[in-house]
Amino acid sequence: MRYNEYFRSRLADLQDEGNYRVFIDLQRRRGAFPEAVQTDGAARRDVTIWCSNDYLGMGQHPDVLAAMHDAVDRCGAGAGGTRNISGTTHDHVLLEAELADLHGKEAALLFTSGYVSNWAALGTLASEIPGCIVFSDALNHASMIEGIRHSRAQKVIWKHNDLEDLEAKLAAADPDAPKLIAFESVYSMDGDIAPIKEICDLADRYNAMTYLDEVHAVGLYGPRGGGIAEREGLMDRLTVIEGTLGKAFGVVGGYIAASAELVDFVRSFASGFIFTTALPPAIAAGAAASVRHLKASNAERDLQKTRVAQLRERLDAQGIPHLPNPSHIIPVMVGDPVKCKFISDTLLEEFGIYIQPINYPTVPKGTERLRITPSPVHSEADLDHLAQALETLWARCQIARMPMAAQ
Ligand SMILES: Cc1ncc(COP(=O)(O)O)c(C=O)c1O
Repeated sequence: MRYNEYFRSRLADLQDEGNYRVFIDLQRRRGAFPEAVQTDGAARRDVTIWCSNDYLGMGQHPDVLAAMHDAVDRCGAGAGGTRNISGTTHDHVLLEAELADLHGKEAALLFTSGYVSNWAALGTLASEIPGCIVFSDALNHASMIEGIRHSRAQKVIWKHNDLEDLEAKLAAADPDAPKLIAFESVYSMDGDIAPIKEICDLADRYNAMTYLDEVHAVGLYGPRGGGIAEREGLMDRLTVIEGTLGKAFGVVGGYIAASAELVDFVRSFASGFIFTTALPPAIAAGAAASVRHLKASNAERDLQKTRVAQLRERLDAQGIPHLPNPSHIIPVMVGDPVKCKFISDTLLEEFGIYIQPINYPTVPKGTERLRITPSPVHSEADLDHLAQALETLWARCQIARMPMAAQ
């Protein structure tokens, strides 16, 4: 086989389908987020980022930066080993305690990312519990899908957020089989939220475990940032809560929080936990500072809600279609891949606004969109600039507006 030719032809296919991913080369500036500098060949351009998952700007928070600097000065760079072989530092232990407390669970376990935590925890539970059947929401994230697939356990996909379908599928399964219902709280592309209580009720009725991915909710919802399950008083009803330290907490890493036995089980059997170098202590220290800060402070969450509402109001006033949902994610619907890419490129080049276009296969064809995530560090002037830029481009591209009555 001519390997490089093969790679080129597959990449050309992606380009022909309009699915080839182009990364924007950004330099974040300390303390200045959402402002950044984009490098494009020899050119440099100031841009405002509107599509980041650093939802609250915690990646620039002084407490987080100070904790990381301090840990580098105390401990140096890397952890020096896997968790089992010399890589468990006191900063990891403190962070796990902080996370268990955040979710009201007995224990927590850190992974190198949210992706790895889903892949390893779901993969381990589903493969190591004999005969386990996994009931997976149809829109679950790739990391959950891959973990379940890797386990080789029986998988039953239920229609997205559809309790009737979930119940029918639970009822049809062997009543004695161990069961695990895997789902998310906030779904990242549509910003809709799962009926967590009702899913827990079904889990109780059919003696199933529940595994909730709160990646797009931790830090953001609940009085201490414990996520939607905290906001709704449901944390004790979930078997496993999974989260990330890379989005609202602004650093990197993933985790599960659960009973002491379950966490010890995953710690003991999960290859994706055991056979990889532990996160650097400075990462653990920075993440712990972020979690601690957001347990005590609602200021970031409150201002984020205000900014989300303000942008929705401006979009409504202009008739720019966006999916109504109860979360902080604003999907502005373009409905055409070429226009979506054009708008994104033009926002960057003419207006210094960076919003990555979201096209198929990430979202279904015909629902191409700009996924906008307003944060407390966007100013009202930033909002005005964005709204005016979108207005200009909507007119230029002649995209349908929402009728005012339907808004
Ligand atoms: C629902 C969901 N779960 C897990 C992940 C992975 O988290 P991380 O970025 O920390 O790897 C993502 C990433 O975007 C996600 O959207």
